[in-house]
Amino acid sequence: MNLLIFGPPGAGKGTQSALIAKQFNIKHISTGDLFRENIKKGTPLGVEAQGYMNRGALVPDDVTVKMLEGALAANDKQGFILDGFPRTIDQAKVLGAMLTNRKVKLDCVLVLTVETKMIVERLSGRRVCQKCGEVFHITARPPSKPGICDKCGSDQLIQRPDDKAEVITKRLDTFWAQTAPVKKFYEEMDLVREIDGTGSESQVFMKIQDALRETQ
Ligand code: AP5
Repeated sequence: MNLLIFGPPGAGKGTQSALIAKQFNIKHISTGDLFRENIKKGTPLGVEAQGYMNRGALVPDDVTVKMLEGALAANDKQGFILDGFPRTIDQAKVLGAMLTNRKVKLDCVLVLTVETKMIVERLSGRRVCQKCGEVFHITARPPSKPGICDKCGSDQLIQRPDDKAEVITKRLDTFWAQTAPVKKFYEEMDLVREIDGTGSESQVFMKIQDALRETQ
């Protein structure tokens, strides 16, 4: 199964992708996570991406597309859920060509909808383990021991630099200006299943599973 998850920053794409990947034994490919890994390792790609990410802008297509192509090549045998790509119509067209070349079909585009006030609450309360990348939220998903990662035991739970209030506003502007039109692109291909992203993680996951059952 090959899926794409789409929605504004903080809609819950990463959270739901992890659940979907586990349930259906497919790979979670997140361009945001791939950039963050490169930043952590200090690669040239990470150095280039960091400035764009920290100001809420999109990383240029040449860099992003090459990185995505590598990740797809490594994972398209098992099936995947793509999170964070495409973010522009141009990226959507490039993805279409890549998948056609690889003889891979996209089964469904899950579109998560969440209102802006809730997005801001989710992003401003998100904490991420700097060591293993596990995601928490100060109220919705707090760690069992305050300040300690449940997964790896690290005490480095930090706020993402792009989750600061001023950058959240920029990211939302970028989403509405450049990324939102991608939804229509996939609606025209009759691939979109819209999911109300409000409610608990497990409630949203149930809605996603219902939608996927209907597409099979
Ligand atoms: P990326 O990492 O993809 O960021 P994003 O799309 O803005 O999405 P987020 O990771 O912020 O949110 P999410 O929807 O995954 O929410 P999450 O599940 O974590 O990209 C970062 C940057 O990289 C971009 O700004 C850009 O610069 C660059 N980039 C990436 N891809 C690119 C591309 N294709 N082209 C160019 N540039 C690119 O949830 C958020 C919080 O809410 C968490 O704390 C979570 O615990 C909590 N939460 C989740 N679900 C629920 C729920 N149901 N109830 C309560 N809390 C919840």
